[in-house]
Amino acid sequence: MNVLIVHDSKFGNGEKIAEKMREEFEKTGASVKISHVSDSSSLPMREEFPDLLIVGAAVRMFRVSPASKKWLNQLDKNARKAGATIVFGSVYLTHALKENSIKGFGRRYLRFMQKMKSLDFVYPKLFSGQVKGQEGPLYEDVLPAVEEFTQSLKKWMTENKI
Ligand SMILES: Cc1cc2nc3c(=O)[nH]c(=O)nc-3n(C[C@H](O)[C@H](O)[C@H](O)COP(=O)(O)O)c2cc1C
Repeated sequence: MNVLIVHDSKFGNGEKIAEKMREEFEKTGASVKISHVSDSSSLPMREEFPDLLIVGAAVRMFRVSPASKKWLNQLDKNARKAGATIVFGSVYLTHALKENSIKGFGRRYLRFMQKMKSLDFVYPKLFSGQVKGQEGPLYEDVLPAVEEFTQSLKKWMTENKI
């Protein structure tokens, strides 16, 4: 299985989550690529479309990173042109909010991804990475929670495999 994780990390917290996810996926033999949304080569060509796309986006100025949405909109255009789709999508958010306050951001971002033409199935659960202050670090329970998240994501993918 090929996994692409695209994040918009500024201070390294979202990147740490991506690295931990890579570690977990690689344990089961998956091949994982991590890119930053601003890397010009981060948008995959049709032949590079992963089986699973994970987007890591930060809440800044009370909204979820416009850069990540722009990236996804461009992916949608490219996928439409190529006549191809990515089967699975998932998202994690980094933020400095209390857990209850992130849920609305998560729901809206998941809805945005579910409307994308280029993603067949979007994992309905959000992974939340809360940071201390504006720059982090991540709260101590975030990285250990990645293992459980990736396991349930993998289980959901297996159940939805067509
Ligand atoms: C300019 C700025 C504005 C921010 N605004 C918010 C905000 O409105 N809500 C919030 O929860 N976190 C806010 N944050 C904290 C970011 O969510 C945090 O820096 C980011 O998630 C850390 O991830 P990163 O290290 O991968 O960039 C803000 C951070 C910056 C730098």
